[in-house]
Amino acid sequence: MTEFTNKVVVVTGGASGIGEAIAKQFNDEGAKVVIFGRHLDKLNQVKNLLKEAIAVQGDVRNIADLDRLFQETRTAFGKVDILVVNAGVASRANVADVDEAFFDEIVDTNFKGAYFTVQRAVNYLNDGASIILISTAGCHFGWPSHSVYCAAKAAVSMLARNFSADLIERNIRVNAISPGYVKTPIWGKANTDDYNSDVPINRFATTDEIADAAIFLSSTKAAYIIGIDLVIDGGLTSFKTK
Ligand SMILES: NC(=O)c1ccc[n+]([C@@H]2O[C@H](COP(=O)([O-])OP(=O)(O)OC[C@H]3O[C@@H](n4cnc5c(N)ncnc54)[C@H](OP(=O)(O)O)[C@@H]3O)[C@@H](O)[C@H]2O)c1
Repeated sequence: MTEFTNKVVVVTGGASGIGEAIAKQFNDEGAKVVIFGRHLDKLNQVKNLLKEAIAVQGDVRNIADLDRLFQETRTAFGKVDILVVNAGVASRANVADVDEAFFDEIVDTNFKGAYFTVQRAVNYLNDGASIILISTAGCHFGWPSHSVYCAAKAAVSMLARNFSADLIERNIRVNAISPGYVKTPIWGKANTDDYNSDVPINRFATTDEIADAAIFLSSTKAAYIIGIDLVIDGGLTSFKTK
């Protein structure tokens, strides 16, 4: 038995990368897990690795899909104890080249998607629930060709404070995690080895290193931690080495 045994955990973007690691760790701790994403094949592959889990297909940009996510969660497992708002996309473009479609895709997925994931969850959350918002260390510094992504994520980091303010009466804690470089499919075809030297610790984070923080922030050991943005980046935003 752990404190997460039989708790209900919802992870958006739970079928790959950071979200998959978070879903697996909570499941290993005995939680019932719901994973959400657009691709049913990926969702089913991960669901089959989990002990007690369901997969819900949908798009965080579509509010009706989010309503269905929480309805199906309640039908399968009851109310939600931990909500991990993780689904996100990253694309790069210089400010001169950003068009409206690019802007809308990044903002609608990362910011609007995060906002309404929490809003539609409100009536399905148990009092005392934990909400984790996955932001990025990139919103704590300037980064060429990442203006839309980093600004959308800065908004997500801000939501940790504002949602906490709105939900504290129900003892619902909302915290953000801002990862630095983490080896996941979001990097696409980029050669991630080329980026190691940007990071003082000279390597990418593992997905489990981010999942460890999600577990901690959702635990009773973090009961007094509310509205923070926890940067986990191997020193990327703290200091330069040259
Ligand atoms: N990896 C890094 O270096 C890094 C650093 C800082 C922050 N982050 C953040 O960490 C989070 C997880 O990313 P990751 O690195 O683990 O990348 P990933 O493996 O590409 O995971 C992203 C997940 O989000 C889901 N997703 C994307 N758009 C969606 C939509 N419209 N509706 C529903 N689900 C959607 C994807 O599933 P489908 O495609 O099947 O929908 C996928 O499961 C993201 O918010 C990302 O911005 C990553």
